[in-house]
Amino acid sequence: MKTFLRILGALVIVGVVALLAFIFWPVSRSAPQQVAASAPEPAEHGEYAMRLADCAACHTAEGGEPFAGGRPIESPVGTIYSANITPDSETGIGGWTLAEFRGALIDGLDDEGHHLYPAMPYTNYRGLTETDIAGLHHYFIEVLEPVRNDVPANDLPFPFDQRWGLRAWKWVAMPDVGFASGAASDDQIERGAYLVEGPGHCGACHSPRNTLFVQDGYTADDAGFLTGGVIAGWTAPALRGEDSAIAGWTAEEVAQILGTGRNAHAAINGEMALVVEDSTQYFSEDDMTAMSRYLVRLDGNGADTAQAEEGPSGGLAERLSDDPATETERILASADPDMPEGARLYLDNCGACHFVDGKGADEVFPELDGSSIVQAGEPTGLISMILHGGALPSTETRPYALRMPGFADRLSDEEVATLATFLRSAWNNKASGAVETGAVADMRSEEGG
Ligand code: HEC
Ligand code: HEC
Ligand code: HEC
Repeated sequence: MKTFLRILGALVIVGVVALLAFIFWPVSRSAPQQVAASAPEPAEHGEYAMRLADCAACHTAEGGEPFAGGRPIESPVGTIYSANITPDSETGIGGWTLAEFRGALIDGLDDEGHHLYPAMPYTNYRGLTETDIAGLHHYFIEVLEPVRNDVPANDLPFPFDQRWGLRAWKWVAMPDVGFASGAASDDQIERGAYLVEGPGHCGACHSPRNTLFVQDGYTADDAGFLTGGVIAGWTAPALRGEDSAIAGWTAEEVAQILGTGRNAHAAINGEMALVVEDSTQYFSEDDMTAMSRYLVRLDGNGADTAQAEEGPSGGLAERLSDDPATETERILASADPDMPEGARLYLDNCGACHFVDGKGADEVFPELDGSSIVQAGEPTGLISMILHGGALPSTETRPYALRMPGFADRLSDEEVATLATFLRSAWNNKASGAVETGAVADMRSEEGG
């Protein structure tokens, strides 16, 4: 018995020491990598790198000063507020050395070595080149004006408020440091891979996550990468695979929607509108081409041909003459007084702009036939569009914001649900499952509509 107690005692001590080591053993930052001799000067490059990495989206609160932080970011365990990353020495990151700044982007550590929550997408930024990091550091420390802004404390319950716990999460979740150049067939596609997998952090929203909130794959070689995710209740649609909308688009059309928020098929809304406004509209022509060529050639998009990259986009007239009329189109065109209620609601409220064939008009009224928002796993985006309408992002090349009116005042919860259910399987759409009246009621009250 005595020996047993002694062994038990020893085990407890070992356990406590291990736990203390886990909590207090100093963390270390990873070592920087080699920098290419031809790299641009940080001073010329910083602002562009900031656009590529879209630091503005999270670090600017609604109505707040750019980069002064305080934007609430909902996570499965509570609310995290983005940090003030202007060079203010008390409330921001004034005085952070390049190594400390790099530690935040690559290792998820602040200047004192505390773990940062993965609401800051450092798992994606781990691929950033040292050149982009140096450019960003120069921009945030030397170029930006300091803004004094105290950010609210995070609203997280125990044990999630304990930052040391993130150490274990990082063991599971962190990919290797550096951009792992894949098997890209040319330099331009390699550049596209870097932009999407690294600074663009597209996978943070467009990839699924497991129960530990670990992103399923960080590069095109991972099967789960860019196969669709959920962000703030909206579905971020799959960007690869037969069922994804972009599998049927040309590289030119992908570039169009990322540059202007619209193309012949779809329009951008929700979280993605911010991405276009703050980030992708500023990509150089070369980078935009690189990114969209990479995207259309992703495994599963079946577009690895010059035709798919450059082929003509089916204009409205062409598509109308090509596609046989769908059953939905026949019902809508029949003006039959006994048509299903969903179809009637569509004709009365939506048909004038989106037309009976659901094809809308190129770059003005998006297609609802084949639309990712309409068929998304989470109907949030569709309900939100019907209740509140939407505005296309305003970009430099297309400054006017084209609006769709909201129907919150005209349609009841039940009518919105019926209409949404109809749309999800109208024309060639294939989403299953009825939209519940309750889901509409929830969104109406949530958004004060
Ligand atoms: C998806 C949202 C998101 C994006 C994009 C993002 N950040 Fe963050 N960032 C956060 C959040 C949230 C925090 C606070 C994390 C915490 O409290 O642990 C943070 C923390 C930081 C910190 C640590 C600040 C401190 O005082 O501890 C730095 C530095 C930083 N971000 C820089 C950047 C830069 C530079 C970019 C662009 C390259 C960027 N972030 C892009 C969400 C984001
Ligand atoms: C903050 C989350 C977020 C990030 C980051 C993000 N997206 Fe999105 N994206 C979304 C959401 C949500 C939608 C659906 C809304 C819509 O279609 O209007 C979307 C829609 C899209 C669409 C339209 C797809 C379709 O089927 O209609 C494309 C293309 C796209 N994103 C590409 C990208 C690329 C490329 C990047 C990286 C440069 C990126 N996204 C980064 C959230 C995000
Ligand atoms: C006055 C013209 C007009 C009417 C009427 C209209 N829309 Fe729209 N709709 C638009 C415009 C313009 C857009 C693009 C703006 C945007 O996406 O924010 C759009 C976008 C959409 C989208 C997003 C599609 C995508 O792929 O991004 C959906 C879904 C949608 N409308 C559904 C409807 C439904 C359902 C109705 C009827 C209740 C309706 N619309 C009535 C003009 C209209």
